[in-house]
Amino acid sequence: MVQFSLPKNSEIKEGKYFKDKTNGSNIKKIKVYRWDPETNDNPRLDTYEVNLDESGPMLLDVLIKIKNEIDSTLTFRRSCREGVCGSCAMNIDGVNGLACTKSAKDITGDIKVYPLPHLPVVKDLVPNLNQIYKQYKSIEPWLQVKPSTNGLANGSIKKDSNGKEIYQSKKDREKLDGLYECILCACCSTSCPSYWWNGDKYLGPAVLLQAYRWIIDSRDEERERRLKKVSDELKLFRCHTIMNCTNACPKGLNPAKAIGSIKKMLVQAGID
Ligand code: SF4
Ligand code: SF4
Ligand code: FES
Repeated sequence: MVQFSLPKNSEIKEGKYFKDKTNGSNIKKIKVYRWDPETNDNPRLDTYEVNLDESGPMLLDVLIKIKNEIDSTLTFRRSCREGVCGSCAMNIDGVNGLACTKSAKDITGDIKVYPLPHLPVVKDLVPNLNQIYKQYKSIEPWLQVKPSTNGLANGSIKKDSNGKEIYQSKKDREKLDGLYECILCACCSTSCPSYWWNGDKYLGPAVLLQAYRWIIDSRDEERERRLKKVSDELKLFRCHTIMNCTNACPKGLNPAKAIGSIKKMLVQAGID
């Protein structure tokens, strides 16, 4: 019988405890995954007591408060603090989400914060997203117009033979709704069991949603080539419609539906 055992240095140990010094009455315990590649130490779970009355409302505000006032070594990504850049994606109380749009007081009990699951960790809450970006690049995420149509290079604005820009109809533009809003936070791909086990080959929901965004764009002239490129047992058909991705998306998008639409288009186009 196969036995699985984790290497000893991967076990998460109980970490440091940072007690509140404000004597406040609205204290929340934040338990944060810590790992430093520059030491040989195991990962650990540090606990910070934070006075929520003296912090901004969102979990990201709390993490920034910890970094500024309690422990400057805590490392995490953030930029916009508005839910539009995707950089503060992390696992919050067992669910992937954006720290900047998650209200700290709405989480009952202690708050446990880990990096996005099943990705190599760079440090603390910072995951290595290289693989996802490489896969994103592979779907050529830009508008492609054949030079033979209008004499312009790929990626140019589509124009007719008189040089007049060809507009997209309202109806065709609406087909991009629910797709263009993706912020590439990777919450969906890192909550997908198929991506956990085959992430080196399966493109995953985030990248497939983006692939569909270009496949369905009425202005793009490479639809067939794009479809053929993703029509692969591992790249696309590893999706088993488990729907974790859709449940995880903090922008309310539906990557599972986009994947289903690609599969349907493949059948309609007779592409194996
Ligand atoms: S629907 Fe597909 S992509 Fe989404 S979680 Fe399930 S297997 Fe992964
Ligand atoms: S589909 Fe949603 S969860 Fe996935 S990368 Fe885009 S915004 Fe993030
Ligand atoms: S900081 Fe940009 S999405 Fe959270």
